[in-house]
Amino acid sequence: GVKKNIGVLPGDGIGPEVTREAVKVLNAIAEKHGHTFEYNYGDVGAIAIDKTGNPLPDETLAVCEASDAFLFGAIGHPKYDNDPSAKVRPEQGLLKLRKSLGLFANVRPVTAYDSLLHMSPLKTERVRGADFVVYRELTGGIYFGEKGRTEDGAYDNCTYSNYEIDRIAHLAFQAAQNRNKKLMLVDKANVLETSRLWRERVTAIAKEYPDVALEAMFVDNAAMQMIQNPKQFDVILTENMFGDIISDEASVIGGSLGLLPSASVGEKSAMFEPIHGSYPQGAGKNIANPLATILSAAMMLDHLGLIDEAIEVRQAVNASLRNGMVTEDLTKENPVGTDRVGDFIANHILEGEDSGSS
Ligand code: IPM
Ligand code: MN
Repeated sequence: GVKKNIGVLPGDGIGPEVTREAVKVLNAIAEKHGHTFEYNYGDVGAIAIDKTGNPLPDETLAVCEASDAFLFGAIGHPKYDNDPSAKVRPEQGLLKLRKSLGLFANVRPVTAYDSLLHMSPLKTERVRGADFVVYRELTGGIYFGEKGRTEDGAYDNCTYSNYEIDRIAHLAFQAAQNRNKKLMLVDKANVLETSRLWRERVTAIAKEYPDVALEAMFVDNAAMQMIQNPKQFDVILTENMFGDIISDEASVIGGSLGLLPSASVGEKSAMFEPIHGSYPQGAGKNIANPLATILSAAMMLDHLGLIDEAIEVRQAVNASLRNGMVTEDLTKENPVGTDRVGDFIANHILEGEDSGSS
């Protein structure tokens, strides 16, 4: 077995409950395969502000830096939502984490699970078989450009360097090589200079990946195409803010936000996080869906080179869907609690294919 140091940042709302189940599942994998996973915990978000005044305390950053990879639950609290000008905010913890650790590639896979197609707001035949992944640049662009106020206005600058574009472009092309060999660059090259640079760089890099078909789409059109024909996409590559917007749009296609994982990858560090937020109304009730976090843990296993283990986790998640061992967001009939979903998946891993109790 291998030994890995895993950071855990449960965060706010349902974050602690869903990360607990992911750790349970990782423990089952460790037990079965003789691996040693050592966990180190850190506070982030509103809970960290309450305790220390800082949404990302230094100790938390140190936990992440010392880890081979880390899990992130969710951040956010209603007391900040109604006050967008609050100076210290939970989101700052996340943005600082991305920037300090150089987590430049945000990977968001979108899968339409057959058993959940009826929950999609889109027509079933449009959605069935949709399966793509968004590569969103995460540490550049308008999020991190110079921002400020002038006497009578405000500004947010968007800048990108060749280096920032190239490094995520290579990851996206490599992902396409391992999938259906299609890469869609999403930009606004009819208007923005940064987008024109993205086109130039990505088109040049495409020569190194002759087996991948590169196309480009303006972001407004892409937003429409994603609803009209989501099956056309394989790998989508885009800059920070466009990626923020279209990945939220993409997240509703499959019918459940509760199943979508993500990875934020850098040169030295990698973070794994469910797409859904902190859902404060559901906190402490044992009703939160842990599957997105468990699937994020599967992405973590892939990242750590534990490919078979990641497959086992995904198979166990599929078994929980098949057996109706799911939380109330996914079924009206006999939903089970957050903890029981995790128990089922952990047991399924330990006891092998389809032997989990239901
Ligand atoms: C996301 C979130 C963040 C973002 C917020 C919380 C800063 O919306 O991870 O997509 O805009 O990147
Ligand atoms: Mn977002």
